[in-house]
Amino acid sequence: MKKVFLETYGCQMNEYDSELVKAILAKKEYTFVKDELDADIVMLNTCAIREHAHRKIYGRVHDIRHKRNGKPVKIGILGCMATNLRTDLLENKNLDIDFIAGPDSYKRLPNLIAESYGEREGSKPFDLTLSEFETYSDVYPAREEGVNAWIAVMRGCNNFCTFCVVPYTRGRERSRSVENVIEEARRLAADGFKQITLLGQNVNSYRHGDDDFADLMQAVSRVEGIERIRFTSPHPKDFPEKFLKLMAENPKICKQIHMPLQAGSSRVLDAMNRTYTREEFLALVDKARQMVPGVALSTDIIVGFPTETDAEFEETVEVMNQVQFDSAFIFKYSERKGTIAQRKMPDDVPDAIKTERIVRLNDLQNEISLKKNEAYVGREEVVLIEQEQANKSPDMMVARTDTNKLVTLPKTGHKAGDLITIRVTGATPHALKGRWINPSDPTQGCNRAN
Ligand code: SAH
Ligand code: SF4
Ligand code: F3S
Repeated sequence: MKKVFLETYGCQMNEYDSELVKAILAKKEYTFVKDELDADIVMLNTCAIREHAHRKIYGRVHDIRHKRNGKPVKIGILGCMATNLRTDLLENKNLDIDFIAGPDSYKRLPNLIAESYGEREGSKPFDLTLSEFETYSDVYPAREEGVNAWIAVMRGCNNFCTFCVVPYTRGRERSRSVENVIEEARRLAADGFKQITLLGQNVNSYRHGDDDFADLMQAVSRVEGIERIRFTSPHPKDFPEKFLKLMAENPKICKQIHMPLQAGSSRVLDAMNRTYTREEFLALVDKARQMVPGVALSTDIIVGFPTETDAEFEETVEVMNQVQFDSAFIFKYSERKGTIAQRKMPDDVPDAIKTERIVRLNDLQNEISLKKNEAYVGREEVVLIEQEQANKSPDMMVARTDTNKLVTLPKTGHKAGDLITIRVTGATPHALKGRWINPSDPTQGCNRAN
């Protein structure tokens, strides 16, 4: 039995992929350990979305060797950096790694690892093939116990936003069949999971035969035992009325949409190849809010995209003021090798300006998030308990609203996975506070009527 330590960077898709890797290797002669110093093999499942993500990995490889003091260990690079930096990984003499596997090659991992121990020791076996078909639909991921489980329903991306490496690191879009996803969802319900988050690089571009994303969501919502369904990360181009209507009507589908705006200027959106204008995005927000009352919206923004002027940045500020997102992830543009932006546009916004812009948007969003959360104070909400004991406060538990707001509340004796009704008693920009409405407590009953 060889001992493996696996470390995961990047998005939820990578978290899911690590669960696949664990399932694939557990069938062979491998066990997973929690301490890297115990391991014979250390694998890093990497991300390449921004420059710092990959620089961190180079440092980490040196750090693993250094901590070992010469004791042997095989180091494998998995994930998006593998396909993104293939030449450097293979040829860089200063990077002491033993095998490399891209996101569509995990079934080959047992062979790659064996080769790295075999006659060809030192030859860095690798598989970076991107597949048009691989969906790992025949692998049941090795998940930790919990309340939420991820299911990747589609992989890859065909959009080629000009700033983004994902279409190159993960290849073309492909989807699993509805039946296959339902089979996994049933098994998850039987294993005690209460919430499923459907995953994909463009999850709402899901398409299998005649089935679209709304059909898939509808089918998953019929699985008994699954109480809540979420999805990430969608693209604004794929929100037909059929889907919004389903979201409004189906109580299991959480009223929360991540709607990545990226920029508020139509000129910049066009240069990014996002395929929508500012006006179209705003119209979609209006439609979503009208059709799905109370829906929470979050977003991603990039500041300092090549050639973004001060006036164009102000348009992003305007849109954020206008939309009032519940939360936002804001990034500085980071030039990625091989992308269209890197080939055609100079990274010409100075870092100091990017910093100024990101600070300004973060401050603005914090104000908006606080206002949005304060509007919840006094409301009754049904929450799903995620931790029956909070990590840092033994008397508290952690739960989440349908709209994806984190809530901390005093422990009640309920278990993780229970749905309970609470009253919201306080708010910060990033979370809510609440207390359980105990149906057998008459004073609280009074409150409820207010
Ligand atoms: N498929 C998803 C995005 C996945 S990447 C979507 O289209 O929404 C997550 C976020 O990282 C993106 O939404 C974008 O805001 C950010 N991002 C991607 N490439 C980037 C880059 N080169 N520099 C800075 N941020 C980037
Ligand atoms: Fe990247 Fe755009 Fe695809 Fe999202 S939709 S993964 S940002 S190319
Ligand atoms: Fe990173 Fe790849 Fe996800 S680049 S964000 S791990 S799809």
